[in-house]
Amino acid sequence: MAVSLSILLILTGITGIHSITKISKVSVKAGASVTIPCLYDSKNKNNVKYLCEGYYWVSCSYVTKTNQPQGSGKFSISDERNKNIFTVTIKHLTHENTDYWCAVELSDGGYVRQYFQLSVTSGRPSLYVDNQEVTGFRGGSVTINCSYSNPGKIKWCMLDGKCVTEPSGTIDGTPVSFNTGVRTVFAVTMKELKLQTSGWYLFVQGDIQLPVHLTVTEKATTTPSPVTENKAVPTIKPEQSRDSVDLKKVLIPLSLLVLTLSVASSIWLILRCRQANGKSTATQL
Ligand SMILES: *[C@@H]1O[C@H](CO)[C@@H](O)[C@H](O)[C@H]1NC(C)=O
Repeated sequence: MAVSLSILLILTGITGIHSITKISKVSVKAGASVTIPCLYDSKNKNNVKYLCEGYYWVSCSYVTKTNQPQGSGKFSISDERNKNIFTVTIKHLTHENTDYWCAVELSDGGYVRQYFQLSVTSGRPSLYVDNQEVTGFRGGSVTINCSYSNPGKIKWCMLDGKCVTEPSGTIDGTPVSFNTGVRTVFAVTMKELKLQTSGWYLFVQGDIQLPVHLTVTEKATTTPSPVTENKAVPTIKPEQSRDSVDLKKVLIPLSLLVLTLSVASSIWLILRCRQANGKSTATQL
C-alpha cells in the first residue's frame, strides 16, 4: 500500500496533475477478458511498456511487452503514443492471477510502475458493461450502461482525474447526464460529441473502477458536401465487384483460347506424328 501510494505520488509529480484516477481495482467476470489503460508521462513515449504479473513488483514476471511479439494470446499490449496511454488486454480471466503491474522502462534502467488488481468474480461483477468499446458520432450523443450489483455512488471520470457525478455536469466541455431510472443500471449520456472526446473513461464506485473506451468518429451521412460523399461511398464496393467481373470477362475467354489452342496443337501434333510415322515406316519397309 505504501509502495503504491509513493508510486502514485511520484507519477502525480511527473505528470503534474494532482488528481489522477489510477486504475487500481477492476471488477471482472471469470472467463471474460478485460482491457486496462495505463497512463504514462509523455517523455516516456518511446520507452518500452510492459505488463507484469504478480503481487510483488520484485517477483512479478513480464507477460507482454511493447517491443516483443505476442506470446500465448492471453495477453496483448498496444501503445497509443499520441495519448500517452498504453493498454493491456487480458483474456480468459481466472481467479488465480489477479495482480498486475503496468510498467514503463526508463532510460536509466529504472521503471515507472502502477499496480492494479483484478477482482475476479464467478457471478455478476460489481460494475459491468456489455462492451468496453463504445462508438459515437461527432455532434451526436452516446449512452453507456453500467450494471452494478452493490449500492453506492457511481462517478464518471476521465483517466486524468476529472469526474462528473449525479445529477449532471460537464467533462472537458462535454455535457454529461445520468439516468438511474432503471434499477441496477447506471446510464451515462455524453452529448455534443467532438472527435477529441474520444478516449478512456471510468465508472468509479468506491475503490472499483471500470474502464470504457469511447471512439467518436465522423458520421458519413453528415458530410457537408454530398458530391464527395456519393463518390466516396460507392467507390469501394463497386470497384471490387467490377474488378472481379473484369477478371471473369478476361479469364473465361482466355482459358477458352488456351484450351482451343492446346487442342488444336495436339491434333496438329498427332497428325504430324502419324504423317512422320507413316513416312518413316514407308521408308523403312
Ligand atoms: C444503453 O441503453 C440504451 C437504452 O436501452 C441504448 O439506447 C444504448 O444503445 C445503450 N448503450 C450501449 C453503449 O449499449
